[in-house]
Amino acid sequence: MNQQSLSVREAIIERRSIKKFNGQPVDREVLLQIVNDAVWAPNHKNREPWRLVAACGKEILELHKLLRDIAIPKWKELSEEALDKQMQKFTLPGAYAFIIVPEDVRQKQRLEDYAAASMFIQNIQLLAWDYGIGSCWKTPDFLDAPEFREALGVKSGERIISMLQMGYFDDIPKAAERKKSDEIVTFFGQNEDNI
Ligand SMILES: Cc1cc2nc3c(=O)[nH]c(=O)nc-3n(C[C@H](O)[C@H](O)[C@H](O)COP(=O)(O)O)c2cc1C
Repeated sequence: MNQQSLSVREAIIERRSIKKFNGQPVDREVLLQIVNDAVWAPNHKNREPWRLVAACGKEILELHKLLRDIAIPKWKELSEEALDKQMQKFTLPGAYAFIIVPEDVRQKQRLEDYAAASMFIQNIQLLAWDYGIGSCWKTPDFLDAPEFREALGVKSGERIISMLQMGYFDDIPKAAERKKSDEIVTFFGQNEDNI
């Protein structure tokens, strides 16, 4: 576990979504350590509205088979070997984490829980970055597919909000520009009429 001990600012600014991985496996222990730290995200009434289904190592091949069978119709015909090759060409995450939130019937609580889980996910991404592990939050349509939910053991009243692909990487993509504070901040009482 090689942590870089980035400052909070460095981690936030330097983290990029990584979509191409180099095939180095992510150890279960590292993933679990990251999750143990990420749970310190703020969350209302300490509901801790999250759980994960994760895959590392051999579990990833099983997961890819599930994706072939459920999510990506054109891969349906692929043999196990061909699927493996296809996945290697495509991308090689060292781990997957599917983040699952309860869907509270009350709208306020449901939004709070989604917000808290999003902070939890950001924590995971920043902590992973500190270990030299990149990640990308993805929301493919199949996350809501009944067969996929069932295969992951997602219960009614729960929703998968993120497929987090994680892994070591060789290249960092260029960052998209962000708006500056003067474009998005208005100080109270000042607007075009009364400046
Ligand atoms: C809620 C959410 C959903 C996202 N879904 C996808 C996705 O389905 N596919 C994808 O390639 N990236 C997805 N992303 C990653 C964004 O594209 C990425 O964060 C954005 O381009 C900014 O790049 P950066 O994270 O490197 O700063 C998602 C990010 C968030 C927060």
